[in-house]
Amino acid sequence: MAWFKTVPFAELQDGRGRRVVVDGLPVALFLVDGQVYATEDTCSHAEASLAEGRLEGKVVVCPRHGARFDITSGRALSLPAITGIATFPTKVEDGYVWVDVE
Ligand code: FES
Repeated sequence: MAWFKTVPFAELQDGRGRRVVVDGLPVALFLVDGQVYATEDTCSHAEASLAEGRLEGKVVVCPRHGARFDITSGRALSLPAITGIATFPTKVEDGYVWVDVE
């Protein structure tokens, strides 16, 4: 485990994504019902930023071509994406969101 400190929890908005770079890796943070989820930010189809996508519950819709991903598992739920994205453990400590990208 290697936890990386990212942004203050208070900066996240429920139902919205936030792009951060963790140890050189673009990561999308999502706040849903008070729980923080972290996924790879880059869509597996054509490199759009998923943090800019629309959230439908715990599903993010890619802003470029509309592929849908489960943010809890990273599973691709619809075309044109055929492969999933990585997900990462998160925790909130000292008011900050921490992500383990290993
Ligand atoms: S870039 Fe995400 S669906 Fe095409």
